Amino acid sequence: RTAPAVAHTRDELSAARADLTSGDVGVVMTMGALHEGHARLIEQARARHAHVVVTIFLNPLQFGVGEDLSRYPRTFDDDMRICTDAGVDLVFAPSPDVVYPDGDPGIRVSSGALGAMLEGAARPGHFDGVLTVVAKLFHLTGARSAYFGQKDAQQLLLIRRMVRDLDLPVEVVPVPTVREADGLALSSRNAYLTDSDRETALCLSRALQAGADAATYGPSAVRRAAREVLVGEPLALVDYLVLVHPTTLEDVPEWYRGEALLAVAAKVGTTRLIDNTPLRVG
Ligand code: PAJ
Repeated sequence: RTAPAVAHTRDELSAARADLTSGDVGVVMTMGALHEGHARLIEQARARHAHVVVTIFLNPLQFGVGEDLSRYPRTFDDDMRICTDAGVDLVFAPSPDVVYPDGDPGIRVSSGALGAMLEGAARPGHFDGVLTVVAKLFHLTGARSAYFGQKDAQQLLLIRRMVRDLDLPVEVVPVPTVREADGLALSSRNAYLTDSDRETALCLSRALQAGADAATYGPSAVRRAAREVLVGEPLALVDYLVLVHPTTLEDVPEWYRGEALLAVAAKVGTTRLIDNTPLRVG
């Protein structure tokens, strides 16, 4: 396979984009440190589009002070190998001054009330930073469709809402979470985990599985089953474990039956991990 074209600047991107003769472009946006989860998104895009563009950009706007921006893994050569193997046509890997030529942007996309819940409560401003860069990368890449992982369910929901609320001409395609054989959701942040952290981290996916197994018995059974698993793992510092409506992110009431999202966030060692599963209650 031939390696993808690489663009670092806006001019390089325009030139490389013009070389993609079909207008049918799918984009996969990433922060690098690519793994099988990213590869699955690329594969889905590959299956439906003449051309696939991958963006690799560690977006400073979505990291708060004291978060892991400075230690986030940077593995560009490995990322390029994965993109080559996956048949990517073009990689856009800009530096922050290319994306934000005037520094901190005064104008941002506001993620609103939905962006202040769950992850947004723990990471103020995070989703405004995500939506701002996603909107910019939609425009810069000119993609028709964009592929996002269920792993980041709230992010996916907010991006879908942004596309509707701002009438962006892009189709958003969700991709199910890719997991290790033992259930651990793939994440670039798994690189921070020690061997014993990794053992501890398994309680997240196990809790979700226990909750999903109890889905026929109603919301409190789901919550109880999941909580029981987490309580058994005191080394995981749970931020939240919630069973919520998939589009409002409000806790579902006890009488609720239908589609729901069971989501968890916990700190394991020095690393904040998130995971979730869609399920059908009742
Ligand atoms: P990043 O964490 O690199 O993730 C890039 C894309 O890969 C996201 O859509 C994410 O949901 C998806 N992904 C990550 N792990 C996955 C897994 N185990 N299974 C399936 N998909 C998975 O999310 C971001 O970057 C950034 O916020 C971004 C959208 C690029 C904006 O900066």
